[in-house]
Amino acid sequence: MILKDKTAIITGASDGLGKQVALKLGESGVNLALMARRKEKLEEVKKQIKGVRVAIYPCDIKESIQVKEAVKKIIADFKTIDILLNIAGIWQKRMPVEGIDEQVIGDVISINLTGLIYITRLIIPVLKKQPESAIINVSSKSGVMAQVGQSVYTASKYGVRGFTDVIREDLRGTSVKVAGVYQSGVKTEMFSKTGEKFDEGVFEQFTDPKDLASAIVFMLSQPPHIWLEEIRVNYK
Ligand SMILES: NC(=O)c1ccc[n+]([C@@H]2O[C@H](COP(=O)([O-])OP(=O)(O)OC[C@H]3O[C@@H](n4cnc5c(N)ncnc54)[C@H](OP(=O)(O)O)[C@@H]3O)[C@@H](O)[C@H]2O)c1
Repeated sequence: MILKDKTAIITGASDGLGKQVALKLGESGVNLALMARRKEKLEEVKKQIKGVRVAIYPCDIKESIQVKEAVKKIIADFKTIDILLNIAGIWQKRMPVEGIDEQVIGDVISINLTGLIYITRLIIPVLKKQPESAIINVSSKSGVMAQVGQSVYTASKYGVRGFTDVIREDLRGTSVKVAGVYQSGVKTEMFSKTGEKFDEGVFEQFTDPKDLASAIVFMLSQPPHIWLEEIRVNYK
């Protein structure tokens, strides 16, 4: 896809990977609708992007009414959407499932999985109107393999993988291409937000979110008849 003058929605654009994808797509000439809960963080990202149209839509993705309102505004503002990047997500501090708080279970599933489904189903009809369009869903290495202590996070990310695989087939033959991203550790604050701690030195080895953002832009920038349906990224 030629990225210049396309329009993308990015969820989770206030921080971490989503912020880096926003900066890189902005450099590539993509107009941006940025979503996340924290308005001030979205404003900061917006200020860093020059030369394209950027608008922010503060919204809690697990609240379907807020998602509907935000999507309505985005469509009214931009008219057309070419790319949906589902990046918003939260971590679940590693522990056996018996110890995981019910609030955390609800939040992890409803933000990482249900919220992603809410927005995707609203945007698919808009993407279908474009001659070429794309959905990229950021799952995780935890969307393809079992890792100790990550039961609920993994349930959400396996869910994203299943959803991604099915809508890719549902949309085959339309203008909408669908891909999944399955990456291992990325050096963001996702973990520290839950009080998660890693053994010394482990976090430092994780992938730089700027580098993963470049890989996502690479996926989108391929010529016609090349579509990378999924990428798996490890930091070592
Ligand atoms: N970091 C890793 O090692 C890693 C590895 C594999 C997969 N991933 C996945 O990559 C994605 C991005 O993670 P990250 O590492 O960049 O984390 P991050 O730095 O914590 O960023 C998470 C983003 O999601 C947004 N978000 C969280 N809850 C939300 C909600 N209820 N509604 C709307 N937006 C919400 C946050 O914005 P607000 O707080 O402003 O709402 C923020 O912009 C996630 O899906 C994560 O599961 C990360």
